[in-house]
Amino acid sequence: MSDSWMIDELDYAGHEHLDPAFVAGYEQKQGNPDPTPDLDVLTAHGLGPTSIVVDLGAGTGVFALAAARRFGRVIAVDVSTPMLNVVRDRAKEVGLVNLDCVLAGFLSYKHAGVLADAVYTRNALHHLPDFWKGLALVRIAEILLRLHDIIYDFQPLEVQSVLDRWLNSATADPGRGYTRGFR
Ligand SMILES: C[S@@+](CC[C@H](N)C(=O)[O-])C[C@H]1O[C@@H](n2cnc3c(N)ncnc32)[C@H](O)[C@@H]1O
Repeated sequence: MSDSWMIDELDYAGHEHLDPAFVAGYEQKQGNPDPTPDLDVLTAHGLGPTSIVVDLGAGTGVFALAAARRFGRVIAVDVSTPMLNVVRDRAKEVGLVNLDCVLAGFLSYKHAGVLADAVYTRNALHHLPDFWKGLALVRIAEILLRLHDIIYDFQPLEVQSVLDRWLNSATADPGRGYTRGFR
């Protein structure tokens, strides 16, 4: 079956996520979020030392690395080679052999072997255009447990004030947070 109609997810991934320099400072911008509450949710849903977790859009692997310490096998999936390089290097550094890195996206990832017990994703799905978000959700719906993402929730007429307010809260120092523009 041809999938020539499929988009290239790299085109939507955010060029900064493909830039090793941005990736190096990425966690500082994020404020080092603690993955423990999300890990606890998975544990509360019955996941344990033999469970398989897929992290889609894993970034630098803050969640995936912590999950690999708690669960049986973790698959970190991302379209960005620099992001996955960070995950792979860190896993090696600390001797985590149950963490696999797969260069793929929400739409192109093909799960092989035993089905996952949970699919996790944080702040990544919004990269896909709406139609493709729907398809991504269809593909992972059966095993999706928790989804974090950035969602706009306002009426079209409010766009000016909402986006102005949001952009006015941007930082001037790219080392401390998100600026109004990249570079
Ligand atoms: C804002 S970062 C979030 C990373 C991580 N989940 C976190 O919470 O820190 C977005 C990540 O999604 C990845 N990404 C963008 N589009 C993607 C896609 N279609 N499939 C998988 N990953 C994607 C980017 O490469 C980047 O690593």
